[in-house]
Amino acid sequence: MPLPGPPDRILVGPSGPLGGQVTISGAKNSVLKLMAATCLAEGTYVLRNVPDITDVTCMADLLASMGMTVARTAPGELTLVHPPGIVPEAPYELVERMRASIVVLGPLLARYGRARVALPGGDDFGPRPIDMHQRGLEQLGAVFTSAHGYIEATAEHLVGTSILLEFPSVGATENALMAAVLARGTTVIDNAAREPEIADLAAFLNRMGARVAGAGSSTITIEGVDALAPVEHTVVPDRIEAATFLAALGVAGGAIRLVGARAEHMDMYLQKLTEMGMGITVEPDGITAVAGQRLRSVDVSTLPYPGLATDYKPFFVAMLTTADGVGIVTENIFSGRFRYIDELVRMGADIRTEGHHAVVRGRARLSGAPVRAHDIRAGAALVVAALGAEGETAVSDADHIDRGYEQFVEKLAGLGADVRRG
Ligand code: EPU
Repeated sequence: MPLPGPPDRILVGPSGPLGGQVTISGAKNSVLKLMAATCLAEGTYVLRNVPDITDVTCMADLLASMGMTVARTAPGELTLVHPPGIVPEAPYELVERMRASIVVLGPLLARYGRARVALPGGDDFGPRPIDMHQRGLEQLGAVFTSAHGYIEATAEHLVGTSILLEFPSVGATENALMAAVLARGTTVIDNAAREPEIADLAAFLNRMGARVAGAGSSTITIEGVDALAPVEHTVVPDRIEAATFLAALGVAGGAIRLVGARAEHMDMYLQKLTEMGMGITVEPDGITAVAGQRLRSVDVSTLPYPGLATDYKPFFVAMLTTADGVGIVTENIFSGRFRYIDELVRMGADIRTEGHHAVVRGRARLSGAPVRAHDIRAGAALVVAALGAEGETAVSDADHIDRGYEQFVEKLAGLGADVRRG
């Protein structure tokens, strides 16, 4: 019988000023792709700085369903064994639990010449097509068929080519990159996504013996190699987790230190926080930040990296609900991703949405209420907003937060916030 998980509500009381330090975990959006990349070569891999989050468990379940062994061998350490003869298939039950499962498509196809993956559905962000993933792989020589909710890609051998992405999609860049490393000849991916997690994936692949140049820029060049080998790797720190604690500081005030946070991965976010009145000091191994009573409102607009990440948007909305003035938040990446705004309104926030814009008028204080987390970042943002509310807020469906945050409640409580599971 499975052990019961933590209670699915997070209770938050008025908090602040915050103080002390918190250590930033490894990045969810990197480790999931590194785990997928282990499909590229048989053998034993060791990943370090792996966050203990349910999305990692989900990817481990997916790899295990194919025949791999994945085990936590020490705190923060994951050992993955890719034996001969795995089944290159991702079943619906697992893809449905986590859309990011789609990134096994490229590496499975490259290594096994065949991959069968359930089609992910839409989610709270709106429709989430995979046409760009598919087009990139087709350009490398894959042939796709689809039936019964699955797509199947086959290719006797992939051949290097030029891929121009219509939009710098993170997932499409990663699938093309992981397929191209074993293709014959040279592949150039233009208009590639530039996220630090893509640079981390390229570093991992190069350590395995791949020849990838330019990751982190808009043009990635890949010289295909015949075979790759397993390696050990330490996952890059999670810039979105770091951003979440800074948002908590923005709402509750105080002075905190983020140990391990990489300021160079969140330049635009730090620039905006500075504009809002937060004091930021970049240190060799982290960031120290100071916030007074009330931030100033700003306008923000999400864009592909190095622009302001769409993942930060809920944190800005949360901060703006109690900031001084009016801020306009514009979403340019996903068509949905506004549902948590109704929850903030239930807490007394003054927010008007129109199309992909939200106009947020700062109030002196929100009012604690029962609210629901609809996705990872929206859930974390509700907890953040609740730090600045009168009375208690109960955030239900908090298991969404556990998908992407390690010890979220414990870490916030460690900074002096009044948060607990209940
Ligand atoms: N898109 C297409 N066709 C495609 C692929 C993407 O139209 O084939 C569109 C999407 O619908 C969306 C836009 O392109 O409108 C950007 O999507 P992208 O592919 O860049 O996103 P993703 O790879 O699905 C990753 C992160 C998200 C993060 C986005 C930011 C992972 C596991 N997920 O998603 O993170 O918001 O990039 O672009 O890396 C999270 O951590 O909570 C999270 C959702």
